[in-house]
Amino acid sequence: MSAENNIESVLNENRSFAPPATFSEAANISSEEQYQQLWQHAKDDPAGFWGEMAENLTWFQRPESIMDGEMPNTKWFTGGKINVSYNCLDRHLETDRRNKAALIWEGEPGDTRVLRYQDLHREVCRFANVLKDMGVETGDRVTLYMPMIPELTIAMLACARIGAIHSIIFGGFSAEAVADRNNDAQARVVVTADGGWRRGKEIPLKAAVDASLDKSPTVEKVVVVRRTGGDVDMVPDRDFWWHDLMDGASADCDAVQLDSEHPLFILYTSGSTGKPKGVLHTSAGYLLGTTMTSKWVFDLKEEDTYWCTADIGWITGHSYICYGPLSNGASVVMYEGAPNWPDEGRFWEIVEKYQVSIFYTAPTAIRAFIKWGNQWPEKYDLSSLRLLGTVGEPINPEAWMWYHEVIGQQRCPIVDTWWQTETGGIMISPLPGVTPTKPGSCAKPLPGVVPDIVSEAGVSLDVNQGGLLVMKQPWPHMLRTLYGDHDRFIETYFSTIEDCYFAGDGARRDEDGYIWVMGRVDDVINVSGHRLSTMEVESSLVAHEKVAEAAVVGFPHEIKGEGICCFVTLKDDDGTDDLKAELTRHVRQQIGALATPDQIRFGASLPKTRSGKIMRRLLRDIAAGRESTQDTTTLEDFSVLAKLREDED
Ligand code: WT7
Repeated sequence: MSAENNIESVLNENRSFAPPATFSEAANISSEEQYQQLWQHAKDDPAGFWGEMAENLTWFQRPESIMDGEMPNTKWFTGGKINVSYNCLDRHLETDRRNKAALIWEGEPGDTRVLRYQDLHREVCRFANVLKDMGVETGDRVTLYMPMIPELTIAMLACARIGAIHSIIFGGFSAEAVADRNNDAQARVVVTADGGWRRGKEIPLKAAVDASLDKSPTVEKVVVVRRTGGDVDMVPDRDFWWHDLMDGASADCDAVQLDSEHPLFILYTSGSTGKPKGVLHTSAGYLLGTTMTSKWVFDLKEEDTYWCTADIGWITGHSYICYGPLSNGASVVMYEGAPNWPDEGRFWEIVEKYQVSIFYTAPTAIRAFIKWGNQWPEKYDLSSLRLLGTVGEPINPEAWMWYHEVIGQQRCPIVDTWWQTETGGIMISPLPGVTPTKPGSCAKPLPGVVPDIVSEAGVSLDVNQGGLLVMKQPWPHMLRTLYGDHDRFIETYFSTIEDCYFAGDGARRDEDGYIWVMGRVDDVINVSGHRLSTMEVESSLVAHEKVAEAAVVGFPHEIKGEGICCFVTLKDDDGTDDLKAELTRHVRQQIGALATPDQIRFGASLPKTRSGKIMRRLLRDIAAGRESTQDTTTLEDFSVLAKLREDED
């Protein structure tokens, strides 16, 4: 592949922050040598390495072999018998953790619940019995369409306990999306709630389930948690209240001894085309991956209070609210609602109230915090924090610096964690006690992760050349298939680059071996024969003092091939023509004439999915002046689109 086909990197970031010595001394992985040794061992002898790591789990029967077969069809821990729910609960009851808080939950209205490991175990056992009484058997699919309440975690672990496969559908999805997923998974039972709270309003969930069931014939029964007290229709013999069923349920329920590769869950993730992909994760490998990465990256200690602000409806919540932290016996904070309810200080109030020590959130949230102003975090005592994390998209260096200074008060290492629904757990991240961090870089691969950056022809690229990010070795927590469509699994992830896993991101590696993810390759634009990462143009825009957030997309351009269109939201200024000219100059200055914006459009907000990802495909349509034919079921606020269209030049 010729050099001009590579992705050109224009982001120049030279700041670096070493971990505080006190942090390193106490860290689970505490020196570069230790990291190097673990990483090399895992690369040279993956079976030996993961076999040793598997001693961190509790097995009913130890595996006969650690890994069999080549990627993508590698089988892990064959012959082993295990139960994920047992590892997250029962094994802690034999230790001092039995009285430790497992879940520290806060509802949006301010109600709270704390479940100790004993309590969580009891509730999980009871709900597992409820499911069994409904006829749910090992291998059956159960849909969970719920708000962020403890019953969601209970339902997940109850499924895992009896070997039922959960499919969690984020509460922001429509009835249509629920029906599609129910049908694809052939779900027998749906667990939901009357509704959930979001910015003081009730999100009706049961009503959406009712609408979906006309179109999902496989569903026999619905369990409904009473959360908001809103009106719901209960269909006799089909719909049951959670509390009625739990009333009579025994708290005695042995965890089923399952094969290592028994499916744990399906999680649907959007593909660039066609129907959503049902990413399937299995028991032992996924549990081991989430357990070890939680220990390494979040440096979990017995006394930590850990808070991941994601919704459990996304993989981040599966892996780092539920399975990873609970398997480590951690105390996990879970919050139901919005970050700006009743005001923009809510997250920091929660940090102070529960003395949160580890805080994990998304760049999009950080940019919102910046926009809301420093007065909110400054009102609260954040001195309990010792470690910060981000996930979900590349973080622009300015947002990183704000996170470091205002939230971390220059004391907390930041772990920028790169991974995907498909990878199951964190793949590339700083180790907080070891890796000097560079704002905007997710740093280095974790032990067991062997990435490369290659050209489209599969050739390894040199330092600072942008290319495709691939994985050359299998890892235990990788997806096993797309549910019901193994051909699509092979086609999507293993056909672009021979013998490698590729899930669509571009990246470069700098002279220190740090990886800089440049976003999805479909976010790459080709301007006059130069492939540019839209993320880097965005970074430059956001570095301007008046800009709050920016999304950059390409559009067909007669001369350049693709032109650069920038959607910009401002901190408080008006979007004048003068400011457009100023921003254009600013980007030219920062990146070069190559990156000169062709269009700048101001708007009050950007179209986002409920998980906070900017919907670039919609913006591409607007930039090109096309009517959109795209699926907008995950869009959070439809009025945003109309407003952005109005600002046509
Ligand atoms: C895509 C995966 C992993 C949980 C949340 C998203 C982007 C994720 C980072 C990061 C740069 C990142 C990638 C990836 N991404 N984390 N730290 N730096 N990009 O899960 O919905 O499966 O999305 O999110 O583009 O491929 P997902």
